[in-house]
Amino acid sequence: MNKFTRIGFILAAAGSAVGLGNIWKFPYITGEFGGGAFVIVYLLAIVFVGLGVFIAESLIGQTGESDVATSFVKMSNSKNPNWKFAGFMILAGLLILSFYSVVLGWILNYVVSSFSSLPTEASAAGATFGALTKDIGTQLFYHTLIAGTVIFIVLKGIKDGIEKVNLILMPLLAIILFGLLLYSISLDSFSKAVSFMFVPDWSKIDEHALLAALGQAFFTLSLATGTMITYSASLPKDANFVKTSMSVALIDTMVALISGLIIFTFLFEAGSPSAAGPGLVFISLPVIFSGWGFLGQFIAISFFVALVFAGITSAVSMIEPSLLFFIERFKMTRQKATIIAGSTFYSLGIIALLSMSDSWGETLTFFGKNAFDWMDFISSSILMPLGALLTCVFIGFYVDKKILEEKFLQHTSIIVFNVWYSLVKYFIPIAVIILFINKLGLI
Ligand code: TRP
Repeated sequence: MNKFTRIGFILAAAGSAVGLGNIWKFPYITGEFGGGAFVIVYLLAIVFVGLGVFIAESLIGQTGESDVATSFVKMSNSKNPNWKFAGFMILAGLLILSFYSVVLGWILNYVVSSFSSLPTEASAAGATFGALTKDIGTQLFYHTLIAGTVIFIVLKGIKDGIEKVNLILMPLLAIILFGLLLYSISLDSFSKAVSFMFVPDWSKIDEHALLAALGQAFFTLSLATGTMITYSASLPKDANFVKTSMSVALIDTMVALISGLIIFTFLFEAGSPSAAGPGLVFISLPVIFSGWGFLGQFIAISFFVALVFAGITSAVSMIEPSLLFFIERFKMTRQKATIIAGSTFYSLGIIALLSMSDSWGETLTFFGKNAFDWMDFISSSILMPLGALLTCVFIGFYVDKKILEEKFLQHTSIIVFNVWYSLVKYFIPIAVIILFINKLGLI
């Protein structure tokens, strides 16, 4: 198999992790839960839960050197072929990609429309966004563009497709974010944004905040969907999987925090409320940018382009687990695997966008949830918690502790191993079970 270089792996894994989750979702949930205190809870969730699972997945991938199903079996010392059923995780990535591609399409549409004009008032911005989510033709057009780009990249494989694209897009993303950060620092409200994000106000922290932080830690690190196992299958054999995992988590966290600082500076500068909700990127920000004239238009375009770059590198990581699975287990060519996985997510994306329209909405709504929301629910509330749980139980209770210890001791001290092992065996599964029960609405 074609391996990444070590730096190629870090860039690709960071490219997967850094996405709409960092630049859009993290700021808006931080706003909703009141800032600083939520940021602390989130950082704890990243370090004690996300990073633990990340290292576990990376170890499984690096050891297995194969698709998710085969890697689990190999990690079990090939003792139990039934671990191949862990391969179900690849479905979550495809399902997320279906609606993620539609959302990326909205953003691409915003890049294009920012060239002509921006809405000057929140009501107009809200109406424009509402109309877009019901406009079948426009959404289909942009969903097709995004899906086509993703398919084009993964057809070229890990080295010539995924690694190369990340090598180009990640530095560009860093440049845009850095520029936006410098601009925010020059604004008066920057210090207000800093205190909002780093001075804790514990009054808004309840169990919802804890669970949101936990769910976000999984989503933002692209865990429990086979993505990191699949990417780590191409991690060089001698690479320090603990260190690379930490680098990726660090980059991901930095981007989330920087995005938060930029966005809250902009919101405060315009006197807008910090809790803008999901409409943050599509409604609140465009109105603020429009107030800044030509410079605002330039910032709007840069910001939406950054989101598209971040999103594309995440999108390719959602389909790759399925491709490697088809290639390794069914001996398919990459072309054939891409046609199957690509047409699956492309069609599901169409169903997702139709389910928001007036003409199809009713047909595509089941038990009070439309198809778009079902895809989100099934992937992030059912498949991802199950995937995370299975990974922890596998590592904590099935794989021989001696084997794990040996792998760690090649790179780290015994203390690091012991801390990680207890987290993965006891603390993380319990946290995930609580999250799972809550997501299913049982508590
Ligand atoms: N981490 C990405 C984000 O924050 C999304 C993502 C990419 C993802 N690959 C994934 C989420 C796999 C879950 C599973 O936007």
